[in-house]
Amino acid sequence: MEIKFEDLKVLYSEEQLHTKVKEIAEKLNKFYNGDEVVAICALKGAVLFAADLVRELDMPVKMEFIRLSSYGSSTTTSGKVNAVDINLPDLNGKNVLIIEDIVDSGLTAKFLIDFIHMNFHVKSFKFCSLLDKKITRKVDVEPDYYGFEVDDKFVVGYGLDYDGHFRNLKYIAYKEN
Ligand code: IMP
Ligand code: MG
Repeated sequence: MEIKFEDLKVLYSEEQLHTKVKEIAEKLNKFYNGDEVVAICALKGAVLFAADLVRELDMPVKMEFIRLSSYGSSTTTSGKVNAVDINLPDLNGKNVLIIEDIVDSGLTAKFLIDFIHMNFHVKSFKFCSLLDKKITRKVDVEPDYYGFEVDDKFVVGYGLDYDGHFRNLKYIAYKEN
């Protein structure tokens, strides 16, 4: 599959994304109730979502960044999660919030959940993803918080890419068949 800018259709507008980010932040603000959080942004896809989300949080926030990859230049997961950079500080006793762009097969989410729990005794652990493609799930994981459920289409924009392209779009788009 090749995706050209001309073929893209808006799935969620800038305004819809903004509203949704605020909704998620409200839930997180309630849950953490002023307690410090370490927000871990899963690069590269979650960068714009994380940037917008943390600005709506009203507790003290530390940001960390990790980089995983499973896709390469294809539009389906390779089935293997590759930890490109997973250097994290000591998270023992911390409220850990993972921020992801999309949960698809669930392999990346599962990898991250296992990694955190194997290495640290955290105070709390939450997994937050802007999008949830439940229909393509291969392993049994669910995000604690998610913005929109999407069906089995490849989406780009607002951080999500196709072979490195379209991350800078203000909206989420898909290719109409
Ligand atoms: P999973 O491990 O299969 O759940 O895939 C998770 C990662 O694949 C996400 O963090 C995204 O970076 C990427 N991904 C999955 N679906 C899409 C999509 O529709 N568009 C762009 N990237 C996607
Ligand atoms: Mg990602």
